[in-house]
Amino acid sequence: MSLKIIGMGKGIPERRISNHELAGFLDTDNEWIVSRTGIENRYICTTETLTGLSACASVQALENAGMSVSDIDLVICATIGGDFKTPSLACSLSEQIGAKCPAFDINAACTGFIYALDVASGYLVTGKASNILIVCAEIMSTQVDWNDRKTCVLFGDGAAAAVVTSGDMLKYISLSVTADTSILNMPSSTGNSPYIKDKRDIGYLHMHGQEVFKFAVSIVGPQITQALDTLCMSAQNIDWYIIHQANKRIIDSIRTRLRQPEDKFPVNIGNYGNISSVSIPLLLYEMLEDGRLKRGDTLFLSAFGAGLTAGSCVFTWE
Ligand code: ACO
Repeated sequence: MSLKIIGMGKGIPERRISNHELAGFLDTDNEWIVSRTGIENRYICTTETLTGLSACASVQALENAGMSVSDIDLVICATIGGDFKTPSLACSLSEQIGAKCPAFDINAACTGFIYALDVASGYLVTGKASNILIVCAEIMSTQVDWNDRKTCVLFGDGAAAAVVTSGDMLKYISLSVTADTSILNMPSSTGNSPYIKDKRDIGYLHMHGQEVFKFAVSIVGPQITQALDTLCMSAQNIDWYIIHQANKRIIDSIRTRLRQPEDKFPVNIGNYGNISSVSIPLLLYEMLEDGRLKRGDTLFLSAFGAGLTAGSCVFTWE
């Protein structure tokens, strides 16, 4: 499938917000949030921009890849929304880091990293690009309603980047959409158009939590079975199950059904909350940094999000 990751980086805001701090102005408490989600802290932008966080992650990923920005011939950002509605985050990032190649965003919500890998793989296979910078970046704190305790406690901000090039790391990839806009969405404003009768103001992220929970648990199991069957592998052959960090209970439920040990399911949601598309590449970055991820390890990556999008892939780390 012609893809390998050769460098990763992260960009995280400075301000860390604990559940206790949220309880200072919201009708919530640490015990409720931890027991329902596994989240203890999240990082929230104060002075940082999403472009700035993305640039920080990109510079580090390029450095780790031993490349300079002039080596990159495609920039793909996965995000729900950048600092501007237009131009794209990929364009504002390119301006900041000095990239001079095609650049565009994709919006596949929390599944953004897997979608970006698939797009990148297509460019590498056809020879349209040789070195691609993928950046996942989200500023969820500006997209949730801070008066809605059911959603605002769940999310965090941040960015993670990967430099990818031709290689044999990617063994399998599969994307899907189970089209449903009702259970997880963020409506666009209708602006001040004099022609639209049903006006919509700025919309915050709206979620039916239990429906999302059910979707996540129902989609990941079949994803794993399909991937393992295609590769003639068993669950034991996977060293790491890297599941979208939306909720620790979702991850636990998937693990219990698979009957695999807990240490194969790394989590960082406790420290970061749910950062949508960033959660998987940030976890990979951390596992590389602390030496958990080793050459030859086999990884199963799985994400799900608004759309409802879903995606999974299998890597053998080089
Ligand atoms: N603090 C205290 N109480 C709260 C809070 C809060 N932050 N939020 C909700 N409650 C209350 C509710 O008001 C409700 O009270 P009531 O019974 O008096 O009406 C009670 O807790 C139960 O509310 P539910 O929404 O039913 O809580 P649930 O047990 O379903 O947990 C949660 C909510 C954590 C969102 C859960 O549904 C879930 O994990 N869903 C999965 C979706 C998910 O993780 N999404 C993340 C983003 S989407 C994505 O990444 C794809």
